[in-house]
Amino acid sequence: MKKLLLDVDSGVDDAQAIMMALAVPDVQILGITCVNGNTEVDNVCKNVLRILKVCKRLEIPVFRGAVKSLLDETICAGDYHGKDGLGDAPDPDAPGLDLIQAEGAVSAMIRIVNENLGEVSLVAMGPLTNLALAVKLDPSIGEKLKGLYIMGGNTDSRGNTTMCAEFNFAVDPEAAYIVLNEFLCQTYIATWEFTCRSKLPWEFCDDWLAQDTDKARFMKQIFKHSMENSHSERIVKELVEGQGFISCDSYAMAAAIDDKYIVETDHKAVSVELAGNYCRGMMVVDHLELMKKNHKVQILKKVDLERFKMLMMNALK
Ligand code: BDR
Ligand code: CA
Repeated sequence: MKKLLLDVDSGVDDAQAIMMALAVPDVQILGITCVNGNTEVDNVCKNVLRILKVCKRLEIPVFRGAVKSLLDETICAGDYHGKDGLGDAPDPDAPGLDLIQAEGAVSAMIRIVNENLGEVSLVAMGPLTNLALAVKLDPSIGEKLKGLYIMGGNTDSRGNTTMCAEFNFAVDPEAAYIVLNEFLCQTYIATWEFTCRSKLPWEFCDDWLAQDTDKARFMKQIFKHSMENSHSERIVKELVEGQGFISCDSYAMAAAIDDKYIVETDHKAVSVELAGNYCRGMMVVDHLELMKKNHKVQILKKVDLERFKMLMMNALK
């Protein structure tokens, strides 16, 4: 059984990734910690409960985490995922926040990792604030993990939120810096460019959403808003990035579920730019090994798209 702990800012693609993991029989989700990101943290908590409800998995504990980034709040979520983070699709029967655990996310993260030494893969799909707080409280938390899977950062200077930074790193650059420098474990990063190169065809998306299940109907509702955003940006995007849809967080999740989904990686030392007029929050890859860092990460380069499609399909079955 693979033990996963998920840190999320749901987020429509976070929802897709969570549903993907829930559909894999030999995966056990030990908990879901929530962080401010695509929407404010209370919305993230509500959204996770809605996802668990539609998957009939409300027994999985959900923890409320950081309300703010470590230092500043210059970057706030736009409207890409809707104001509520899940496409502003009404849900009168949404579970109440009373189902959220009394224990906070950071303390739960430390406890769960310590109770399952060497067994937990942590999948981080939002700003890294909870993880940075956790490593400051328990500096050896990284060594106690099986692996860390991050969706975030970029490998060239093209961002998706600021000119040079990807959203999860742009929202909390200090947290990303702390995690990349202090969370010492096998680390895998699904960067923005990697997800762009790993697009799924829009025809696949149509078939995926057309499945006759409650999960597919739920996904269709919450995805409508961001899908329209993608389509309205489509002409510009396709010129630059090629056709298809991206479920950013799902690639990090697939890698955590099984390394057979990833066919190529690049082993490099990385860090995050914290200053600069243009580059704050940009991930820096040390190609020339000038940082002299022993700790290197695996930057995902190529996914097995056919296998990945099956994981996505199963998520909504
Ligand atoms: C990341 O930002 C969020 O909008 C997505 O959920 C994903 O985690 C992509 O840059
Ligand atoms: Ca996310």
